[in-house]
Amino acid sequence: MYLRGLQCTECHEDVPATELQRLCPSCGSPLQALYDLGAVAAAVAPAELSARNGGVWRFREILPDPGEPVSLGEGGTPLLRADRLGAAVGLDALWVKDEGVNPTGSFKARGMSAAVSMAKALGARALTAPSAGNAGGALAAYGAKAGLPVHIAMPRDVPAANRIEAEMCGAHVELIDGTIQDCGKWIGERAEREGWFDVSTLKEPYRVEGKKTMGYELAMQLDWSLPDVILYPTGGGTGLVGMWKAFAEMRELGWVTSTPPRMIAVQAAGCAPVVDAFHAGAERITAPASPATIASGLRVPTPLGDRWMLRVLRESEGTAVAVSDDELLEGCRKLARSEGIFTAPEAGALVAASEKLVAVGTIAKDDRTVLFLTGTGLKYLECF
Ligand SMILES: Cc1ncc(COP(=O)(O)O)c(C=O)c1O
Ligand SMILES: [Zn+2]
Repeated sequence: MYLRGLQCTECHEDVPATELQRLCPSCGSPLQALYDLGAVAAAVAPAELSARNGGVWRFREILPDPGEPVSLGEGGTPLLRADRLGAAVGLDALWVKDEGVNPTGSFKARGMSAAVSMAKALGARALTAPSAGNAGGALAAYGAKAGLPVHIAMPRDVPAANRIEAEMCGAHVELIDGTIQDCGKWIGERAEREGWFDVSTLKEPYRVEGKKTMGYELAMQLDWSLPDVILYPTGGGTGLVGMWKAFAEMRELGWVTSTPPRMIAVQAAGCAPVVDAFHAGAERITAPASPATIASGLRVPTPLGDRWMLRVLRESEGTAVAVSDDELLEGCRKLARSEGIFTAPEAGALVAASEKLVAVGTIAKDDRTVLFLTGTGLKYLECF
């Protein structure tokens, strides 16, 4: 409805949104969706959005318009005060956003609803993506709902729930010896030849749009204000860049006036390219030689959106921090015992990270802090 077109995040070339697009045709970087925000502001007010029902598609004016969305009820997740966990980590104003209650058990549902809706609307005949875990299950589910065939490549050691869920939803699952990077290569060799539309992280522009609704929803749940600090478990980084995009749009729309939050990327010590690049002052990441972590969604050695993520961390005056696998599993236990939420290992990392950052003063005791619990622990039973 209000989508003006797509633009390269690096060279700023304009690309039409009227057909299926993937990366920038000139420089190969991710594309982002741009809206006529003046018209959006004239059409809808924040109070009206708050009064609507629904999750992701409640924000339809600032999303691409697929006609009828492919939806399984994604978004609309609770933002919960976490006072007991706050006391344990040393924070007076802590919230958790429980994305584990999404369809297929993770925030990936938001992005896949948007990407699959648009791919179908623009004529895709089959869908494909590599997945280190939750994205594959989500793509398979939304592909099934859309009536489109799905081909997924997953590392052989992916948590069983992700593989079984994808197969149950009728996807063809190829298990690969290696990381998500090797899975991406397998798909790259086949997608064009087979006519599969590739919805890999940031290789098409709409998963970010679905995930940015986490930012809109958070602001709405805080009565159109923003917290001081957001911690986000970062693999490919779509949630991180998506939320930052949402905050910029909301500022331009006049929907929020508060200073945007400091964005903190949390990674696993066994695969922390964004943390390393951030602290080295680098513009691009260097891939770790042997990426390893139990938090499968964080095992992303070569994220395509590295420059975009690093810009967000710097612009927001945030930081990046790594925690060990033992620490992130202990984070899951602490969260479950104090708040009753059994979260994914990726999100358990946020608990450990917040403790570390409070200890060194990067997060102040009274900073209003939000942890994005990106997935449910129920899909990782073999890890605990
Ligand atoms: C539970 C969970 N958290 C976080 C991530 C990382 O997300 P992103 O690729 O948006 O950085 C993933 C990715 O698979 C995930 O499954
Ligand atoms: Zn470009």
